[in-house]
Amino acid sequence: MVSSPALISASKTLLRGCNGVPGVLVQRASSSWWSDVKMGPPDAILGIAEAFKKDPNPKKINLGAGTYRDDNGKPYVLPSVLKAEQRVIENRMDKEYSPISGSPEFTKLAIELALGEGNPVLAARRNATAQCISGTGSLRVAAAFLNSFFPGPREIWLPSPTWGNHVPIFKHSGLTCSTYRYYDPKSCGLNFAAMLEDINKIPERSVILLHACAHNPTGVDPRPEQWKELSVLIKKRNLFPFFDMAYQGFASGNIDNDAFAVRHFLADGHNCILTQSFAKNMGLYGERAGAMTVVANDSEEAERVMSQVKILIRPMYSNPPIHGARLVTEVLKDKQLRSEWLKDVKGMADRIIGVRADLRSALEKLGSKRNWQHITDQIGMFCFTGLNQEQCERIIKEYSVYLTKDGRISMSGVNSKNVHYLAEAIHAVTK
Ligand SMILES: Cc1ncc(COP(=O)(O)O)c(C=O)c1O
Repeated sequence: MVSSPALISASKTLLRGCNGVPGVLVQRASSSWWSDVKMGPPDAILGIAEAFKKDPNPKKINLGAGTYRDDNGKPYVLPSVLKAEQRVIENRMDKEYSPISGSPEFTKLAIELALGEGNPVLAARRNATAQCISGTGSLRVAAAFLNSFFPGPREIWLPSPTWGNHVPIFKHSGLTCSTYRYYDPKSCGLNFAAMLEDINKIPERSVILLHACAHNPTGVDPRPEQWKELSVLIKKRNLFPFFDMAYQGFASGNIDNDAFAVRHFLADGHNCILTQSFAKNMGLYGERAGAMTVVANDSEEAERVMSQVKILIRPMYSNPPIHGARLVTEVLKDKQLRSEWLKDVKGMADRIIGVRADLRSALEKLGSKRNWQHITDQIGMFCFTGLNQEQCERIIKEYSVYLTKDGRISMSGVNSKNVHYLAEAIHAVTK
């Protein structure tokens, strides 16, 4: 369509076709095709990383990104994953395309990890599981499936706040996003009463998204008794649960504890959608290994669902990448390597839990009058400190401590060398 201002002012040029036929009159833009494209805002997290890079302060700390760092502040490749990689390389595997829904061995091991081996859902083959492009890609495929086939409203209910990418992913897929209350800024904990009240008002047959563990950005999770109550309410309200599980094992250090909510909902008779990521628990951020599962009523329904999931994936990216999935497969299928991995995951979780305690005690030792219990109550990669926007701006400007303006810090950027400096900075801006 010739409708953009650039094209309306286009100069008319007579061109000769390649077959030599004269007189083909075309309009050529005097400026670029993309002159109407406006500059978009930078990604919040990447913007922080850039500002951090430019900062000459030797004491600077980057607490923006959700990637694990060791006690020296360095990226961490899990020893178990390194071993798996050596084996994969030694095996000299081919580089053929994977099936549209990914490697069957990977998807079997991934969903077994989530639901537990011998889960009746798996025994009855009620799961339609596809390997997808890490957690984000799994969410995107699940959203596309909901948009095409969900029999209720094309609306998804998200906790407030939620991971910054949830709304763009679901909106991009054509769903409407609404929120239910979740976090209580006064206690820096869960506002369970408000959560129940809001869920009670969600229109029946809607989709509700739940973070399976280590809620991002707050680090606040329901306790097991609260999950049980939520399961009853969600069933009573006839809502469809969608679990985003990006941190299995990374939260508590125990893969079974972190999968409690998902397993409990299934045992309670819910069908659900589950998305998994191996970015955090295997340190495979850039490898993009993840899975998306739709739990169906029976195996025949699961097969029909799977056929449609494949039809959705094919025009999006054809088939998923192979290397990360091979690493996950190698780790999970070998008993010895798997137990080494479980130790590696626990090591990461324990370091984060330990540094939470160190930060809280350093703040208390500095004489802070504030209650910092939420630092140790919260779980997983992130801590919602309770710092307001002004305090966030001050701590960035005066102390070179980089964080998102909602007061979220990534605990993985905290270590034995910088925890005291961080405590001093937090104390100074919250006095
Ligand atoms: C809640 C949540 N879901 C999904 C993801 C997806 O991560 P990835 O696409 O890197 O697996 C993340 C990553 O930060 C997350 O925090």
